[in-house]
Amino acid sequence: MGKRDIVVGLDIGSSKVCAVICEKRDDSSLDVVGMGVSPSAGLRRGVIVDIDSAAAAISDAAARAENMSGCALVSAVASVSGAHAVTTYSKGMVAVSRPDREIGQDDVERVLDASRVVAIPPDREVIHVLPREFVIDGCRGIRRPVGMSGIRLEVETCIITGSATSIQNVRRAAARVGLEIDQLVLQPIAAAEAVLTESEKDLGVLMIDIGGATTDIACYLDGTLQHTAVIPVGGSHITNDVALVLRLPVGYAEELKIKYGAARADMVNPDEMCGKDNGISRHKLCQIIEARVYEIMEMVKAEADARGLAGQLPAGIVVTGGAALMRGTAEAAQDVLKLPSRLGVPTGVSGMADVVASPAYATALGLVKYAWGSSGAASGSAGRRRSSGFAANVREWFREIFSS
Ligand SMILES: Nc1ncnc2c1ncn2[C@@H]1O[C@H](COP(=O)(O)OP(=O)(O)OP(=O)(O)O)[C@@H](O)[C@H]1O
Ligand SMILES: [Mg+2]
Repeated sequence: MGKRDIVVGLDIGSSKVCAVICEKRDDSSLDVVGMGVSPSAGLRRGVIVDIDSAAAAISDAAARAENMSGCALVSAVASVSGAHAVTTYSKGMVAVSRPDREIGQDDVERVLDASRVVAIPPDREVIHVLPREFVIDGCRGIRRPVGMSGIRLEVETCIITGSATSIQNVRRAAARVGLEIDQLVLQPIAAAEAVLTESEKDLGVLMIDIGGATTDIACYLDGTLQHTAVIPVGGSHITNDVALVLRLPVGYAEELKIKYGAARADMVNPDEMCGKDNGISRHKLCQIIEARVYEIMEMVKAEADARGLAGQLPAGIVVTGGAALMRGTAEAAQDVLKLPSRLGVPTGVSGMADVVASPAYATALGLVKYAWGSSGAASGSAGRRRSSGFAANVREWFREIFSS
């Protein structure tokens, strides 16, 4: 058998480490061939604080994925927590190099490099340089300049940096188990890659990823990332509330949450109990959960309002992450943010797609999709188009409705 063309996503989350292995097919689709999950260790709020424990968790997840796929892993695309990410904005300008003035991929890379020339403090490392818009000879709003004609190419970018120490620790933990990290992707960007459609990103959409220790949000408009933020509250806070109020051990509270939990108490039968012998009302359990989920959604709303995003989201909200598995989570988002919401389950892959078809694996699969999209198959073709007239019209109608 020839060499297999594989991409590995390694999501180092606050509650679990997840490795997903995908194989590139000749028709440029992606087949899921392996997946492995291990409980996280050595992390606090998504950042590695104990490298030995983190390495052991990575090793365990990778070994499980290797067993399932029959591939030996050597390198991976890893996730970086958004908790220490900082976004700055920059600009770059270059002269188009070809005599016939056709803009090539090399010009795009040069202009993106030019925008990177900003003062980055030594304790920070660049994770992403994302183009917000290209400008050709003063003409704004261009998303794919390759193949167009011009003399001067400019770009406005969003530069996302992370704590150099935290990033270095991700690389070191992976290196301990023989894995080289060849690309890093911010967690909310990876999750968005797995669960959002291109038309949602064009129209304007807010992704909410409720994980263990944090809730990440990412807003897209016109096909580009507008904003990301991390709210330091997640599924583990819900479990702790249940444990505290019902005076239960945390492990048992987690079990009840997963088995009987819902984010809206009105979705469960008021007379039902959580099992036969503990005397705990399911309605009471869900009231505790509801209070925390609604608080998380209020915090998301406050962030969206502070950025003026609410009126720019005709495609609504997509809720993902492990905690979104709870019934009623998307409805809670809808209640608080007053926008249509849906559950975000990773899509767009074949093979054993069912093993990753859970909101908890959105980030891991998104890492693979992001790396695959940025390394060829997708970017080699005509690539992204500009926002269609249709998308612009829908956005305009939405703004009118929203502001009336
Ligand atoms: N079926 C379920 N019902 C309710 N909650 C669930 C369910 N499955 C998982 N969770 C919760 O989801 C949370 C973990 O989510 P996820 O796996 O997305 O976290 P993570 O990616 O490791 O963390 P983070 O993104 O914060 O770094 C935990 O709090 C867990 O209790
Ligand atoms: Mg996560």
